[in-house]
Amino acid sequence: MRTQVGIIGAGPAGLLLSRLLALQGIDSVVVENRSREYVEARIRAGILEQNTVDVLTEAGMGERLHREGLEHRGIHLQYPGTRHTLDFPELCGRRVWVYGQTEVVKDLIAAQLAGGPPLHFDVTDVAIEDVDTDSPRIRFTDADGTPQVLECDVVAGTDGFHGPSRAVVAEGAAGQRLWERTYPYAWLGILADAAPATDELIYAWHPDGFALYSMRSPSVSRLYLQVDPGERIEDWSDDRIWEGLATRFAHEGWEISTGTVTEKSILPMRSFVSAPMRRGRLFLAGDAAHIVPPTGAKGLNLAVADVVLLSRALVRLLQDKETDLADAYSDTALRRVWRATHFSWWMTSMLHTTGDPFDAELQLSQLRRVCSSEAAARELAENYTGLPY
Ligand code: APR
Ligand code: PHB
Repeated sequence: MRTQVGIIGAGPAGLLLSRLLALQGIDSVVVENRSREYVEARIRAGILEQNTVDVLTEAGMGERLHREGLEHRGIHLQYPGTRHTLDFPELCGRRVWVYGQTEVVKDLIAAQLAGGPPLHFDVTDVAIEDVDTDSPRIRFTDADGTPQVLECDVVAGTDGFHGPSRAVVAEGAAGQRLWERTYPYAWLGILADAAPATDELIYAWHPDGFALYSMRSPSVSRLYLQVDPGERIEDWSDDRIWEGLATRFAHEGWEISTGTVTEKSILPMRSFVSAPMRRGRLFLAGDAAHIVPPTGAKGLNLAVADVVLLSRALVRLLQDKETDLADAYSDTALRRVWRATHFSWWMTSMLHTTGDPFDAELQLSQLRRVCSSEAAARELAENYTGLPY
């Protein structure tokens, strides 16, 4: 098989890259080691920046998003005694949408299978070769067990945190560096058939730990509790989870709405950046190169920003035979990555209790500042809704 861009991984990064390239007349093939069912069932975050909505819409992926997505104009920040609303359009003229990453992925897969570039699920033994030449290749075994060789001009490593691409960059790129922070807490997340008891998401600081009230639709809530990373999900009955949520979101004159829990899991929290995001003809994008903790809702949005940049660089490289954007890709992408890394770390640090009373006072002071200073609130709003590309 031959293609211009071989794409490893059918998450939002790989699927959107394939689509953006197709719209520019560049062909690609996507290989994914999981099944379509698995990829479409994976529950991930659900906040889309204005930039992300614009990119998806321009790529022809906005139909269901605009029909079913929920437009949001702010968030509530809560600490004991206070529930304060940040109005994003007023602060920075931008807004966000609630639309699950799972739904974005379903839309992209449906479009790809309806006449888009080839997409192979259930592949195994993916190996990347000759990335330091102009003709790299991907070897894999297809779903029928047949070994395949995909000859490419470029390989895109959009295979997430656990995929093989990052290690190939690490083996060969001069001066490869990694930065990592593992946070001493985790999120216990549930999906519940319960109408959200709030108009906007609630980010709540509480002495027992952080809690987040999010949603997926007018009848489905998505809620999170800060827990110790050593906690086991088996020890958290639905009743215990609802009690924890009710305590942490408690606010005068307000009540949580409960319902059947349809999914629950514990998610570790880490920051991770790997640079450069390129070796020769292999380019990394999305979780393959960086992870942010979920507090700022930046993971998916950062993956989209990467592939917008990468698609432009690849069009220029493969159509105009100019290397300037490809050469600038890693540095340009990393500037946005570090901004989002800082914002996610800052939101995380402000909202998660550590057990240290000094930390608690600093957090409360920061929260009061964001809720009383327009300048401080605007800084949060601009980052949350997404800085312009
Ligand atoms: N071969 C082929 N595909 C692979 C391999 C492999 N060896 N290893 C991993 N993959 C696939 C995964 O199964 C997954 O479908 O690569 C895909 C990577 O997708 P994501 O993990 O979703 O990463 P990305 O597309 O960068 O999306 C960005 O934003 O909200 C965050 O972490 C969240 O997934 C989200 C991310
Ligand atoms: C979610 O809805 O899953 C979600 C929302 C906001 C966040 C993180 C996750 O900051």
